[in-house]
Amino acid sequence: MDGPLSHHAGSLADTLTAVRLSLHVLGAAVWVGGQIVLAGLVPTVRKLAPEGPKAAARAFARLSWPAYGLVVATGLWNIAASHPSAQSGAWRVVLFVKVAVVALAGLAALAHSRATTRGGLALWGSVSGLTSLAALVMGVLLAG
Ligand code: HEM
Repeated sequence: MDGPLSHHAGSLADTLTAVRLSLHVLGAAVWVGGQIVLAGLVPTVRKLAPEGPKAAARAFARLSWPAYGLVVATGLWNIAASHPSAQSGAWRVVLFVKVAVVALAGLAALAHSRATTRGGLALWGSVSGLTSLAALVMGVLLAG
C-alpha cells in the first residue's frame, strides 16, 4: 500500500523498529568501532606516555562493556521481533553462529583485559576485534 510516507522505492520503519535497530547499531558502533579506533590511537598514546595505553584501555572499558550489554539486550529484542520460526533455516543458522561469535568476542575481550604478556594481549585483542567484526557482518545478513 502506498501511504503518505512510502514511495515506490520502499517504506519507512515504524517508530519502535527504528528505536530497536538504532540502539542495536549504536551499541555495535561503540563496541566494534571503539576497538578499531582505540587500536589506531595506541601507538600515539604510547609515545605520549608509556602507561597511556593501559589508562586509555580502562577508560574505553567503561564505554565498551555497557555497549556490549546494549547489543545483547537489543539483540534479544531483535530476535523477539524477527520471529525466528518464520525465518529461513539459513537465517537461523547465521543467528546461532552470530550469538556464539558474540559470546567469543566478549570472552576474548575479557582475556585481553587480563593478559599480562605482549603475546597474550595481541592474541586476545585480535580475536575480540575479528569476532566482533564477524558479528557485525552477520547482523547485516540477518537484517536482510
Ligand atoms: C558484537 C555484537 C553485535 C554486533 C556488532 C551486531 C551488529 C548488528 C548489525 C550491524 C545489525 C544490522 C542492523 C540493520 O542493518 O538494521 C544487526 C542485526 C541483528 N542482530 Fe546484532 N549485533 C551484535 C549482537 C547481537 C546479539 C547478541 C544478538 C542476539 C542475541 C543479535 C541479533 C540480531 C538480529 C536478530 C538482527 C536482525 C534485526 C532485524 O533485522 O530486525 N545481535 N546486528
